[in-house]
Amino acid sequence: MITVALPKGRLQRPVLERFAAAGIVPEEDPATTRRLIIPAGGGARFVVLKSGDVPLYVERGAADLGVCGLNDALESEADLLTPIDFGFGKCRLCLAAPRGGKVAQQSALADASELGRSLRVASKYPRLTAKWFARRGVPVDLVHLSGSVELAAVSGLTDAIVDLVETGRTLEENGLVVVDEILQVSARLVVNRAAYRLKVEELLPLLEKLG
Ligand code: PRP
Repeated sequence: MITVALPKGRLQRPVLERFAAAGIVPEEDPATTRRLIIPAGGGARFVVLKSGDVPLYVERGAADLGVCGLNDALESEADLLTPIDFGFGKCRLCLAAPRGGKVAQQSALADASELGRSLRVASKYPRLTAKWFARRGVPVDLVHLSGSVELAAVSGLTDAIVDLVETGRTLEENGLVVVDEILQVSARLVVNRAAYRLKVEELLPLLEKLG
């Protein structure tokens, strides 16, 4: 039996299409059922969870493999194999700030770096954010949020945000602009290291079909 960690949200439909093409189809539609473990054909089952939780489930072996954004894989710092870049789910992890403000003109980054003053930044990705600012020598006061991150910069909770940008519409409609790009993101297959060795006969043909 192969257990596949299936993300909720935007990635779910394209992920199901790729697995269906590889012969693995859930017995119930994960978008409508409330079941969290869904049997599938081909000696497999899906477990349904948030994209950000996929790396942990796979690293700990509760799932043999799964799909998540590169941002989630890196943020988790999980020890995983990442053999396939699916090419869908493309977006960018960006630093963004209010249009016309000091951070938008990048002057605040230089000031904060020179004066040792902390920039307040909200994100769902505190580790990636902290690393990016640390590399630039800019002290940062991180606010870890779980959603609607743009609101932090709009409401004055923080000076800036680090969040995913796909079409750019959320930033645009909230008066924010991209200041810098931190990471180019796409959906990745993540595989448990032990499962890759112990279930090689089941996994290798599947990886070939998915790749
Ligand atoms: C994501 C992301 C941005 C938005 C970007 O949020 O966090 O808010 O999509 O997309 P866009 O550039 O096409 O506007 P999501 O919808 O996943 O919800 P969340 O705010 O609850 O994380």
